Amino acid sequence: MTTQQDLARRQVQAVLQAQQQQAGALLPILHAVQDTLGYIPDWAVADIAQALNQSRAEVHGVITFYHHFRTSPPAAHTLQICQAEACQARGSRALTAHAEQALGCSLHGRSGDIGLEPVYCLGLCATGPNIMLDDKLVSRVDAARLDRLLAGVKEA
Ligand code: FES
Repeated sequence: MTTQQDLARRQVQAVLQAQQQQAGALLPILHAVQDTLGYIPDWAVADIAQALNQSRAEVHGVITFYHHFRTSPPAAHTLQICQAEACQARGSRALTAHAEQALGCSLHGRSGDIGLEPVYCLGLCATGPNIMLDDKLVSRVDAARLDRLLAGVKEA
């Protein structure tokens, strides 16, 4: 095991020690592990299951039920497109379809260094459709503007 894996395992053990005695600990633990490591590795599923006296299948079932949880490292860049009602009324579905075609992946998918994710309201409903590209919030995004933003990411 590499030093990096040792560190990750110690981080997961710290999360487990801090939270495993709480009622309903599984979801907070999964959030904490993903917040710490960026995703939930297979080996962590085994550690979590053992700590909570659950089967790996039970833990895996919860992970796969929620799209929020990742089982592989996140993409270097994340494009989130608002799917909430106000942005839908302003064209976010068509924008999402364009993004899926441009990237060659579906929502929750990944194309190279860019992950495509839904988000449900970014708080600027009057200026949709809105996106988050990494930590940058962009409003009134149409297909052409999205293409320019993605080209900028690919060139960086
Ligand atoms: S509905 Fe998209 S920002 Fe609120």
